This record gives sequence, C-alpha cells and structure tokens, in this order.
Amino acid sequence: MSKEHTPNNPFYTGISMPDRYFCDREMETKDIISKLNNGNNIVIKAPRRVGKSSLIMHVFQQKEVKDAYNTLYVDIYGTKNMDDLVKEFMNAFLEAGFARSERGRKQVERLFQRLYLQANLSAGGELSAFRLGLSPSNGVNFTLSEMFKFLEKTKKPNLVVFDEFQKVKEYPEDITAELRSYIQRMTNTRFIFSGSSRHMLNHMFEHPKEPFYRSASSMNLDIISEESYTSFAKRLFQQYRKDISDEAIAMAYALFSGRTYDIQEVMKEVFQQLASGKTAGIDDVKDAVKRLMAMWDNDFRERMDRIEKIKNRNMLYAIALEGIATSVTSTSFIRKYKMDNASSIQNAIAYLSDENINAIEKIGKASYQLQNRLFELWIANGFRCLDQKFSTARDRFEKERQMLSQQPVFKFTD
Ligand SMILES: Nc1ncnc2c1ncn2[C@@H]1O[C@H](COP(=O)(O)OP(=O)(O)O)[C@@H](O)[C@H]1O
Ligand SMILES: [Mg+2]
Repeated sequence: MSKEHTPNNPFYTGISMPDRYFCDREMETKDIISKLNNGNNIVIKAPRRVGKSSLIMHVFQQKEVKDAYNTLYVDIYGTKNMDDLVKEFMNAFLEAGFARSERGRKQVERLFQRLYLQANLSAGGELSAFRLGLSPSNGVNFTLSEMFKFLEKTKKPNLVVFDEFQKVKEYPEDITAELRSYIQRMTNTRFIFSGSSRHMLNHMFEHPKEPFYRSASSMNLDIISEESYTSFAKRLFQQYRKDISDEAIAMAYALFSGRTYDIQEVMKEVFQQLASGKTAGIDDVKDAVKRLMAMWDNDFRERMDRIEKIKNRNMLYAIALEGIATSVTSTSFIRKYKMDNASSIQNAIAYLSDENINAIEKIGKASYQLQNRLFELWIANGFRCLDQKFSTARDRFEKERQMLSQQPVFKFTD
C-alpha cells in the first residue's frame, strides 16, 4: 500500500476527505451509483449538516464514478438569480478535472472565450485561476444553452450536481421550466439535485404541475447510525494510540442529534486535546463543547444583537431553553415565559423562522427548535442551564426522532 499523508487530526470538517476518514454511507453510495448507472437522475434530501455534500463528493471519488463520468459540482447555495447560477456552473467547469484535460480544455476555452466576448470581458490570464463573482449582476447575459451544448459533446458521460437546488425557486425569474427542458434533452448527462429544504424539493419534484415532476428518483438521507459512527470514531482514535469511551461518543451523538457536522467538530476538538495513550470520556466531550461555544461566542453575540425586539429575543431564549418547544401558543407556555399573548408569539415565530434570521425550524405541530444546536447550548449556558442540556440530551434526541418520524407523508391534493 502506498504511504499516504497522515493528517495530524483524522476528523475532517471540510466537505471533502479521503475515503479512509469518511464514515460509512456504504449503502447510500452503492445506491446512488447504481441509480446513476441505470440512467436515473437523483434528488437527495436531508436537513443541513447531515452530510449530503460530503456524500456527493465521496461518490465522485469512487473509482466506478471517477473512471466513467466527468464530474461537475455546482453549489448554488449563495446564488440569487439566473446569472449567478450560470456563473457557478462555469466556475464548476473551471474547477473540474476533465475540463483541464487536453481535449476538454480546448473546448472549455472556446466556450469561455465566446462567453467572455459576449460579456465584453477579456478572458486574460490563467483560465483556471479565474473565478466569476456573484451578484450584484454585472449585466452579463450568459446562456445556459451554451453550457449544456458543451456537455452534450463530451467524450465521457457527465455527472452534474446542483447542490442546494431549492434555491432556484427563490430567484426573481422562473427558470425551472427552461432548466428542465435542457436537462431532459441531455443524452449523456446524469444529474443529482440535492437540498436541505425538503418541503421545497418535494414541491418541485412531486407536484404534477411542476416542470421537474418525477424527473428524478428520490432519496431521503438519514443521519449516520450511532453504531456506525461509534466504531468509526473509535477506530480513528485508536490509529493514533488514543481511545474514546462509548459513552463519550454517545453523549456527542445525542447532544447534536446525530448531525455529522457537529459531531465531527466535537470529535476533532476532543482528539486534539487528548494526550497520546489516554482515553477520552464524557467530561472531555463536555469540555470540547464548551471550547467550541467559546470559539463561536462573537458570532452568536452578533446573531443576538441582530434581533432587536425584546419579544423576539425572549421567544428565542424560550425555545432554546425548552430544546423542543411544543404547544408554543398554549397558556402554560405563555405564562412560563412571561410572553404577552398567542399572537405576539406567532409574530416572533414568523420573525425567527424568516430566512434572514433563520434561527428556528418547525418540527411538528406548534413545535419548534433552534436550527443550530451549538447556538442553543450557548444560550442555555448563558442561563446557567448547560448541565441540564447535557443530562437531558438523550431524551431530547429520542423525542426529536419520534416527532420527525411523525411528520405527515407528503401529498398534494389539488
Ligand atoms: N460520512 C461522513 N464522514 C465524516 N464526516 C462527514 C461525513 N458526512 C459529513 N461529514 C462532515 O460533516 C460536515 C457537514 O456535511 P455536509 O456534507 O456539508 O452536510 P450537508 O451538505 O448535508 O449540509 C462535512 O463538512 C464533513 O466534515
Ligand atoms: Mg451541503
């Protein structure tokens, strides 16, 4: 076996990592590859931080995929309109390995020169060093059709990913019909659409009147199982002559409801602080969480400062302290948190859920929780309730799982 670079810390927190440091997802990886090979497009849905983008990167790295497809990853999370989307699409070309290969490169260069000319920009300098900025729009009228025409002529089939695809629904222009018509015509290109807004994606892909209706096979990505994550984390510690107890991993897993991003952050921190030959326990996890909260302190303060109205802030505190806040407009909730009345609670909920603040999410009938668990813990810490959060983490996790499993099955009735 070739000797690969060994990182100082085996817990990765970026979206792409060597396979050895990637936890599980074996079934999902196989499933995606076989669907693609059978000619299907796929839509992957999961809440943020569960691991969609990393899974896609992992799929890209597999030999069957790497050898068979040109892969393009287009992250449209930060896009606001069609221009942005096309620019991100072009950036993906610039970053894609195949576009740099001899034949591909010439084609890409020709394509880009045409587009630059059209945009009245000079392409100058290294093509691959050039990144197109996002909106405010510079008035460039790039065309999607150019990109798809290019893809139609590649030697190998292509695999194109649109990550956070639900964003297209927020654009001022409705481009779904146009996109769909290009995608439908492609004979050599498979698509993966992925996103965090299950509601929006379901609408786009399950509603008979939507252009993308039934155009992709659907996959709900769940959290990584606790067994899988536990053996993964232990293996990594042990490779460095360190260890971690099952209870410690269980604490991190429950505290962050199995969301890979947060658990990886905690493990990375625990690992870093632990001396060689030692075994990390529950207290090491708690300490790591406290250090992460300290690192985020400024950011969380700013988030609180942005919420000007005291009523809205109090509502956020209330939800954070509850963990899962249920029956939020009931008299008992109103009394417990000294809120005015049901309608001011409704207003606060609307404000806190709004995409600008984006602090809370609905998880059942009249039930809400904070989107960011570390933020919740930080608030609890401010109220001296952190220990309570630690001791109730498991119950809370189980309650959340139960509530999420009871969410109504999605159906359109019109
Ligand atoms: N299977 C995995 N093994 C190890 N780390 C992972 C795995 N999946 C996700 N992660 C970590 O969690 C982070 C968040 O995952 P990401 O794929 O960005 O989530 P999403 O796209 O669903 O928001 C990643 O940056 C990565 O560090
Ligand atoms: Mg992602």
